[in-house]
Amino acid sequence: MTTTNTVLDFNEVIHGRRTIKKYNPEVKISQEEMSQILEEATLAPSSFNLQPWRFVVIESQDAKEKLLDLAPFNSTQVITSSAVIAVFGDLEFANRADDIYGRAVELGHMPKEIKEKILATVVPLFDSFSVQEKRESIMVDGGLVTMQLLLTAYAHGYATNPMAGFNKEKIAEAFGLDATRYIPIVIISIGKAADEGRPPVRLPVDDITQWK
Ligand SMILES: Cc1cc2nc3c(=O)[nH]c(=O)nc-3n(C[C@H](O)[C@H](O)[C@H](O)COP(=O)(O)O)c2cc1C
Repeated sequence: MTTTNTVLDFNEVIHGRRTIKKYNPEVKISQEEMSQILEEATLAPSSFNLQPWRFVVIESQDAKEKLLDLAPFNSTQVITSSAVIAVFGDLEFANRADDIYGRAVELGHMPKEIKEKILATVVPLFDSFSVQEKRESIMVDGGLVTMQLLLTAYAHGYATNPMAGFNKEKIAEAFGLDATRYIPIVIISIGKAADEGRPPVRLPVDDITQWK
């Protein structure tokens, strides 16, 4: 696996990342680097390691224009960014269990019997889920991969803006995905920051935490 060449202190990453809406439109991110960012983001954990996330990298002028119609309130991000990554969840995520656990066995990370045991329990479990239950699982995993993507992008020197402000009914179909299978989670603009964004304001931990 490739690893990022950027060396940033973790503290700098979590304190430095902030939402940026305006980017230098001249800056493009190569497919090679974007793939590396996605690969690092997908080191995020997921329920039973089933990795339900799927990405569409929207970078061409044509694709961006399509997205603009679906996200008119976030037009600056769409227009100026190097790309917008649409994060979807695949409702048929359990179908990949055999690939994933098979790879773990091949690589010597998991005994074959454990794979067989997990496949015999996990796949029927997820197959028994209602669409709503599958969506809930997808949203948790999708949030984790999104967060990891924001931090990875920052460590590569790029700014981001996660966005829920887009047309969720139309986005899958607009980019050639089956809307009954692929659930939109967020869209994420990514590029070289052209402004500083706002420093974070957060609720005090004491206000949001109970100690038992
Ligand atoms: C799920 C989600 C949806 C968001 N949707 C939008 C959006 O549609 N447009 C936008 O400009 N910012 C959007 N944001 C960015 C938030 O406003 C921003 O993360 C928040 O103000 C905290 O700022 P920070 O990211 O700089 O820490 C969204 C963030 C999240 C996590």
